[in-house]
Amino acid sequence: MCGIVGYVGEQSASGIIIEGLRRMEYRGYDSAGIAMISEGSIVSDKKAGKLANLVDSLAENPLPKAQIGIGHTRWATHGPPNDVNAHPHLGQQRRVAVVHNGIIENFTTLREELESDNADLISETDTEIAAHLLERTVAETGDLTTAMQQVCRRLEGAFTLVAIDANDPERVVAARRNSPLVVGLGQGENFLGSDVAAFIEHTRDALELAQDQVVTITRDSVEVTDFDGTPATGKQYYVDWDLSAAEKGGYDWFMRKEIFEQPEVISDALLGRHTPEGTLQLDEVRISEGELRDVDRIVVIGCGTAHYAGLVAKYAIEHWTRIPCEVELAHEFRYRDPILTRNTLVVAISQSGETADTLMAIRYARQQRAKVLAICNTNGSTIPRESDAVIYTHAGPEIAVASTKGLITQLIACYVLGLYLAQVRGTLYGDEIANTISALGQMPDKVQAVLDDAETVYQLARDHIDASSILFLGRHAGYPVALEGALKLKELAYIHAEGFAAGELKHGPIALIKEGLPVFCVVPPKGRDQLHDKMISAIQEIRARGAKTIVLAEAGDDSVKPFADELIELPVVPTILQPVVALIPLQLFACELATLLGNDVDQPRNLAKSVTVE
Ligand code: F6R
Repeated sequence: MCGIVGYVGEQSASGIIIEGLRRMEYRGYDSAGIAMISEGSIVSDKKAGKLANLVDSLAENPLPKAQIGIGHTRWATHGPPNDVNAHPHLGQQRRVAVVHNGIIENFTTLREELESDNADLISETDTEIAAHLLERTVAETGDLTTAMQQVCRRLEGAFTLVAIDANDPERVVAARRNSPLVVGLGQGENFLGSDVAAFIEHTRDALELAQDQVVTITRDSVEVTDFDGTPATGKQYYVDWDLSAAEKGGYDWFMRKEIFEQPEVISDALLGRHTPEGTLQLDEVRISEGELRDVDRIVVIGCGTAHYAGLVAKYAIEHWTRIPCEVELAHEFRYRDPILTRNTLVVAISQSGETADTLMAIRYARQQRAKVLAICNTNGSTIPRESDAVIYTHAGPEIAVASTKGLITQLIACYVLGLYLAQVRGTLYGDEIANTISALGQMPDKVQAVLDDAETVYQLARDHIDASSILFLGRHAGYPVALEGALKLKELAYIHAEGFAAGELKHGPIALIKEGLPVFCVVPPKGRDQLHDKMISAIQEIRARGAKTIVLAEAGDDSVKPFADELIELPVVPTILQPVVALIPLQLFACELATLLGNDVDQPRNLAKSVTVE
């Protein structure tokens, strides 16, 4: 949700900033802009729409050379996406330029205050307020760092601010509260970014900042303070993925590349988490075994796709541990006064680690003295830092806005957590755990087998290019798969899609079924006879009413064939692990259909990755 870049060094700032914005564009693409300091003045350009518009504008009217600057790619909150509302915003004297991610909640009061003091505000954004306040304060203090500290003390809400002062061409000053910001540590140059992808080309040494900190970078120094000016230190870390992970590698879309990376990232997510004999070892879970034995309730929270990972987790965790497990959307959980005790384990699932709804929910849970365990992909992000424990999913950077490998590795982490809890609490025998670990170990090959047959799914997409509505049905762990299949289609192909629990069909949704309506049906493996047979009954019911059934069932399940207009065969896996293989065709279908429709698969309309506003 808004991408931010800052640079100071010896290289051409515009090149570095535009390149950084290209890698940040997945965070928002309503507008893009740049501001730099050249010969004591702010030089700036900004354009509504994708970064390409800014690049074209700069090609036509190049900015003077500079070695310090800031850049922004926007996901609009205050004010529509036009040139005026695009960032950077400048103070009235054009002395200070600011980019911002987040929402300044007391912006109306601050705006009124500035307007009553003759400020000429030209945009509808909250950011321009910060630019004016900073410029006024820097005029008094003469120092951008001090001004940033003072202004941040007045701001409410969530924000990352990055600013430059025309009178001080050596420094970029930034601040963060509840919004992401990392520092890239170079030689004779330093960087700022919403995440490390902004500077991964130049350095893999990064500095993580805590909440309510201000950072000042020059070519040779990085200084951190809190909002009161008290010196602080960031936590340095090394980024363990390289530039190629942030490139498309020959694929047309990041999303397609990320789908095809899934066998590899499943292996990475399992790496080092069990002994060869199948005993789990989760070194990073800093909650003692005693505390885990005392857990009497688990609440899994997340948003969107991560919430669906939680729905799968519930089936696995309750089955393996017999601990009651609820799953809730983080934003609903946070504001309904949920009952939590010190024996409640809250599992927060978030690919980005920055989702504001999830972050606010874990803060609330910890205030109520519940233990929080994060399942997260992004090292150094806020949610794991504010949790009691973390299981990193090791999916590598997920650039496409729609989550794919992020979800699959969340599932793996949830399974690992469920088995670990079962091990600690003795609810499964060692050989049962070892067998499931062994089944998980086979998942990369099973997923690869589904990917090897991508062409079958692509053909299906070609056959459904004119579909205006598609439904998805599942049961048990296949129900979240149905929900995710529908979400992927909505967000990428922009067509009506809904996922239902197959058992719910007859309670209402069956009224939607009409001649020719495509319905994806996720059939549980045959081993679970009852579930399997009930799903077949549901398929018969919709087929009798004219639906066109696209059935996902395990290879060799001949019983489904008479009722399948189209059949996608899935590898044979245990029921509880089936989502890992069943999700893959649905990801491929949405990606391909959106491609055929001419949509931007990596940057679907109205969306942004990493939703850092509530
Ligand atoms: C859908 C999608 C979103 C995210 C959701 C949570 O494809 O990507 O629904 O899953 O915004 O994001 P994280 O996992 O970063 O908290």
